[in-house]
Amino acid sequence: MLKIAVLVSGGGTNLQAIIDAVKNHKLTDVSIEVVVSNKEDAYALVRAADNGIASVCIRPKDYESKEAYGRYLATFLADHEIDLVVLAGFLVVLPENFVDAFAGKIINIHPSLIPSFCGDGFYGLKVHEAALARGVKITGATVHYVDKGCDTGPIILQKAVSVEEGDSPEILQKRVMEQAEWVILPRAIQMIADKSKLTG
Ligand code: GAR
Repeated sequence: MLKIAVLVSGGGTNLQAIIDAVKNHKLTDVSIEVVVSNKEDAYALVRAADNGIASVCIRPKDYESKEAYGRYLATFLADHEIDLVVLAGFLVVLPENFVDAFAGKIINIHPSLIPSFCGDGFYGLKVHEAALARGVKITGATVHYVDKGCDTGPIILQKAVSVEEGDSPEILQKRVMEQAEWVILPRAIQMIADKSKLTG
C-alpha cells in the first residue's frame, strides 16, 4: 500500500479526483493518509473532512524560518510513514531541506505543458492567462517529480488540451482540469504505486 499525503492550498479539485479514483477502485493499493493545507480556509480541507480523511493546516508563517518549516513538515510526514507527497494545487515553494528529506518522493501537477508557462510566478489562472496571451493553440497539464528548482523536475506524464476560439482563462482552466489534470494525476500516482509494489 502506497501511503500518500496530499498538499493543497485552495479548492482541491485535484484532491477530489484522487479521492474519487480511490473510491471507484480506479486507483488501487493507494491510501490517502493525510491532507496538509497552508491555508486554514482552503475548501480542500472540507473535501478531506467530508471523506473522513485526516487533515491539518501547517502555515509557513508560523515558523521562524523556511528551514524550521521544512523540518517540521518533513518530521510530520515521516511520522505518518508517507511514501509519496502529492502537491495538488499547493502554492508554497517547498524549502530545500524538505525536498532533500523526501527526494524522489514528491510529485506536482502543473496546468501547462512544461517547459511552457511554468516556473516562478506561473500558477493557477496566471498560467492560462499567459497561454491565451501568447496565442497557443494547444496547452495541457504535466505531472512531474519535484526537485529544488521551480517546475524543473523529471516529467512523469503530460496530456494535451486544445485552446478554443473565445476561451477565457477560466474556461480554459476548467477544460485543462477536466480533460488533463484530473486524469493524469491519479494515473501518475498509480504508476508510482505499481512500481513500488514491484520493488517492494
Ligand atoms: C490546478 O489547476 C493546479 O494545476 C494548479 O493550481 C490549481 C489548483 O486547483 N497548480 C499550479 O499552478 C502549481 N504551479 P485545485 O485546488 O482545484 O486542485
